[in-house]
Amino acid sequence: MVASEMHPFAKTGGLADVVGALPRALATLGHTVDVVLPRYRGVAAGETASPLAVRLGAVMVETMTSEVADGPTRVILVDHPPSFDREFLYGPSSGDYEDNAARFALLARAALAWAARQGQRYDVVHGHDWQAGLVPVLLATEHADDVQLGHLPTVFTIHNLAYQGIFDASWAERLGLHPRALGTDAMEYWGRLSFLKGGIAFSRVITTVSPRYAAEIQTPEFGFGFEGVLTGRADDLVGILNGIDYDQWNPAVDPYLPKPFDAARLDDKAASKRALLVAAGLSPTQDALARPLVGIVSRLVAQKGFDLLATLGDDLGALDATFVVLGRGEAAFETFWRDLAAAHPDRVAVRIGFDEGLAHLIEGGADIFLMPSRFEPCGLNQMYSLRYGTVPVVRATGGLYDTVEPYNPATGSGNGFVFEDYTAEALVRTLRHALRIYRESSAWRRLQLAGMTRDCSWEASAREYVRVYERAAGGRTGA
Ligand code: ADP
Ligand code: GLC
Repeated sequence: MVASEMHPFAKTGGLADVVGALPRALATLGHTVDVVLPRYRGVAAGETASPLAVRLGAVMVETMTSEVADGPTRVILVDHPPSFDREFLYGPSSGDYEDNAARFALLARAALAWAARQGQRYDVVHGHDWQAGLVPVLLATEHADDVQLGHLPTVFTIHNLAYQGIFDASWAERLGLHPRALGTDAMEYWGRLSFLKGGIAFSRVITTVSPRYAAEIQTPEFGFGFEGVLTGRADDLVGILNGIDYDQWNPAVDPYLPKPFDAARLDDKAASKRALLVAAGLSPTQDALARPLVGIVSRLVAQKGFDLLATLGDDLGALDATFVVLGRGEAAFETFWRDLAAAHPDRVAVRIGFDEGLAHLIEGGADIFLMPSRFEPCGLNQMYSLRYGTVPVVRATGGLYDTVEPYNPATGSGNGFVFEDYTAEALVRTLRHALRIYRESSAWRRLQLAGMTRDCSWEASAREYVRVYERAAGGRTGA
């Protein structure tokens, strides 16, 4: 696998969780995975380093690679401090680093140079998101006739179509891309180059992270200009729902919770609620403990519904609920939540930043998890919430649609609350409904238990990936 994030080495979002967990799930099915990842600032793991020279256009770049073992999985860290020893993975919130094309071309070339050095060890190469998009491109063009790499089938996973790796056409020369990589059936995108389009065009099988999203991205509403490219590959496009890592996200053993709980000891969840209120700087009064607590852990971007929430300041403050928000992202959304917390200091708490421990405590201590995404390829937090007895309130899109089953008052079935229209009214109406049902303790308990007993493990999904790898290895080629 080639990826730009992997838990616990480097993470900005769910990609890291998936690349951290899928190799382990594949290992339990008997497969061996090597993952190639940049060595970003602060990644200390991996001792013996060996040099690896990589060509970028006219320049030879000297990198160092080191290996880290994670059970049967090997992680290969590509070390090139000018490219990767930086404060952020992709750039500050004001914009991406200007040389991201070169940084991730370096990752792709280093991964293939590494692979070539291993001999014919690999059955399939799996790239994740645009940052790995050049891997299938390079394999199908400049490496097509290689003894070592020419045979390698490719699988490419789209975790989020909104990020397309689009760069000025002048990069083609600087990166030394083959003319076959540049055509309109390849990386060319409205006069520029898209790493994502290259990944799609040259991979044998394309996957995305939920069945619903696989269908959505073939429409103009969710395709972000790629719907034509994707409908053209519809036969090779497969939606596989992400799993969650049952070891990392398990309320019965979670070290970030003050007291473990599970379906048989659900009353012990109250200890996490109290600890969360305290951690958020809110007093754990009887009132506060009785009032439903709504948690949010998210990148603060419009994709996640923060533009809707930002129109709702007074309405949120007026609800019979406490809000605890953890996230970072666009300055305007950070300011909105800071202002709301200042206006309702007893009801709203916000932590701007990235804090893994607090993310776990929110899943453990909240009653409701709010995820009103405009689009959501899969989404992991709603599944963490289900497992932690924290009832999700979500919009019916992508992986949220595939994992959260709406509460049906007539039968009591369901595991969460779902709204369809991407409007502030629909969001508030659904949140109010959830807050009402919260007061009906037996209905609420049923909702919690339905979530906690849903299978969100990686096992079934890892088997689907194996089928996709087999299909890529035996099936017809892409572009
Ligand atoms: P996305 O990848 O689009 O951000 P996902 O729901 O797939 O959305 O995954 C988000 C992951 O990142 C989850 O593991 C979530 O807990 C984590 N996360 C997001 N923001 C923060 C934060 N501010 N602090 C800690 N963890 C965060
Ligand atoms: C992306 C998506 C998210 C998905 C994650 C892991 O970041 O936005 O929905 O869960 O990738 O696949």
